[in-house]
Amino acid sequence: MAVLLTGGAGYIGSHTALCIANAGLDVVVLDNLSNSSPEAIRRVSELTGKEIPLIIGDCTNKDDLEKAFSAYPIDQVVHFAGLKAVGESVAKPLMYYRNNLDASLTLLEVMAAHGCNQLVFSSSATVYGTIQEMPLKENFPLGCTNPYGWTKLMSEQIFRDVGKADLGLSIVLLRYFNPVGAHESGRIGEDPNGIPNNLMPFICQVAKGRLERLSIFGNDYPTKDGTGVRDYIHVMDLAEGHLAALKYAREHRGVEVFNLGTGVGYSVLDMVHAFEEVNHIQVPYRIAPRRPGDIATCYADPTKAHDLLHWQTHRTLTDMCRDAWNWQNNNPMGYRNA
Ligand code: NAD
Ligand code: UFG
Repeated sequence: MAVLLTGGAGYIGSHTALCIANAGLDVVVLDNLSNSSPEAIRRVSELTGKEIPLIIGDCTNKDDLEKAFSAYPIDQVVHFAGLKAVGESVAKPLMYYRNNLDASLTLLEVMAAHGCNQLVFSSSATVYGTIQEMPLKENFPLGCTNPYGWTKLMSEQIFRDVGKADLGLSIVLLRYFNPVGAHESGRIGEDPNGIPNNLMPFICQVAKGRLERLSIFGNDYPTKDGTGVRDYIHVMDLAEGHLAALKYAREHRGVEVFNLGTGVGYSVLDMVHAFEEVNHIQVPYRIAPRRPGDIATCYADPTKAHDLLHWQTHRTLTDMCRDAWNWQNNNPMGYRNA
């Protein structure tokens, strides 16, 4: 049997492909390469010594998904495929709703046609909206502040309704906090298009000299040093969370939701200082105005994942900073020159 990773050539998908292939599962990737490179999957094959088939196809296209399900004995799916840039989703909401919702719906239809009933979905801490009570627990009220977030919350709702209608389904919704870092080999990592939106790739590109300096968005939040606090999680710990979720889906029916975070919040200044200390490199920065839509603090209560998935994070902030830099330093242009 095989696990299909939609969007598996992307940042989290490629690390998960590596993790679950190393655990002995057969992996098939379907990706339209709109935000990724086939080189990522070539390198995962190289690192694992296993052939990872890559189907270049679109998850909103039934025929493309049919190709995957007809060619391989797929009994589980991890659904990463989606557009993820918050700002772009505000400017192009229809593109986000069309792509992210259609992908979820089409996938569910093709899975049903092939009798595949186990799914793990990439949701996001963004579905907690602007709640101020921390740490965030899975049963807190939900709401979003941008179209990207709504596509995640609406997809969650679709999966919940489908799970209610068909009691044979196993669906695991994973709410990721802030994934950072890279595989320790430095061969795969995060390769954003254009100027990065997220903190860690921005820091890495400043350290490498591709960008002049970091803008820290606000130092007047009600946090210990005034800068925003987030729950950064090493992408390999996150990948292991998917392995645990696949096991859970094999053993349980129904729909369940889990936070995947460390439970610890670090500020932007914590991240900059840790990066400088671990990698012995300067990260010039300036304080800039707050970024619209940002919240002060966001971190998970990961207890449910500890208890039911028997998963926890092992990697430290030092590991995150070292591995992010190792990838950036060895691949200054990401996969582009490969
Ligand atoms: P990514 O952009 O690196 O990976 C997503 C992949 O999906 C890309 O390879 C892209 O080419 C592919 N894709 C997009 N639309 C597709 C479609 N219609 N058909 C086929 N492939 C398609 O992003 P990532 O950081 O690896 O995120 C993976 C998932 O996790 C996404 O759904 C994202 O929304 C979610 N998520 C990410 C974060 C984060 O901070 N990185 C946080 C929470 C949730
Ligand atoms: N930040 C800066 N400068 C930058 C980039 C970010 O100061 O150049 C700050 C932000 O203001 C925030 C923190 O760094 O305080 C983290 O910002 P990111 O953009 O890295 O991450 P966010 O928490 O804003 O959002 C991320 C993903 C979302 C996802 C959310 C929760 O981008 O898609 O985590 O999972 F929804």
